[in-house]
Amino acid sequence: MIPDPAITVRSLHYSDLPQVIAIERRAFPTPWSLAMFVLELSKPSGICLASLDPSGALTGYLICSRYDQVWHLMNIAVDPGARRRGIGSRLLSEMIARAGENTPLTLEVRTSNAGAIAMYERFGFRSAGTRRRYYSDTGEDAVIMWRDAAATPTASSSAGAGA
Ligand SMILES: CC(C)(COP(=O)(O)OP(=O)(O)OC[C@H]1O[C@@H](n2cnc3c(N)ncnc32)[C@H](O)[C@@H]1OP(=O)(O)O)[C@@H](O)C(=O)NCCC(=O)NCCS
Repeated sequence: MIPDPAITVRSLHYSDLPQVIAIERRAFPTPWSLAMFVLELSKPSGICLASLDPSGALTGYLICSRYDQVWHLMNIAVDPGARRRGIGSRLLSEMIARAGENTPLTLEVRTSNAGAIAMYERFGFRSAGTRRRYYSDTGEDAVIMWRDAAATPTASSSAGAGA
């Protein structure tokens, strides 16, 4: 995958949060509150990213927290009208570049979220079991995924430098 020069990725700012909340509400049945984003942005060790289109409009975001030596991908979403153009991949690539290519990463994803699971697998994440009834809104299970130093991203994802 050749990075699209029309996609800019930078650190997420507090001033982005109104646009983040608008996308969050379109992306998830149980969206995060503003307070949850503020809390994550306040953590000095976190990686919080925004993607922008050429007009400067926010098209997606990623929130990743560090717990000791492990990074936990807490949230990623792309505006519904901007999906399947490589934005999610660019956000994951930048996160991995900032966390370190060989840094252990983990996440939970709904078992029904085949698109996201496919994206994570392209970046070397692998299933490591499930958390039963992890999502309280629907009672759905979560797939636990890990990406570690032994991860072998597919060729299509490696050009983006990571997950
Ligand atoms: C998951 C999400 C962030 C992906 O963002 P995106 O910008 O569309 O992702 P990309 O364009 O980089 O897709 C990369 C690859 O992931 C896979 N993928 C992504 N969405 C997919 C879908 N809906 N169906 C099947 N595969 C999909 C494909 O392999 C895709 O490559 P391709 O387009 O060349 O086939 C986006 O769909 C989203 O915001 N979903 C709602 C929120 C969400 O579910 N977040 C994840 C929570 S764990």
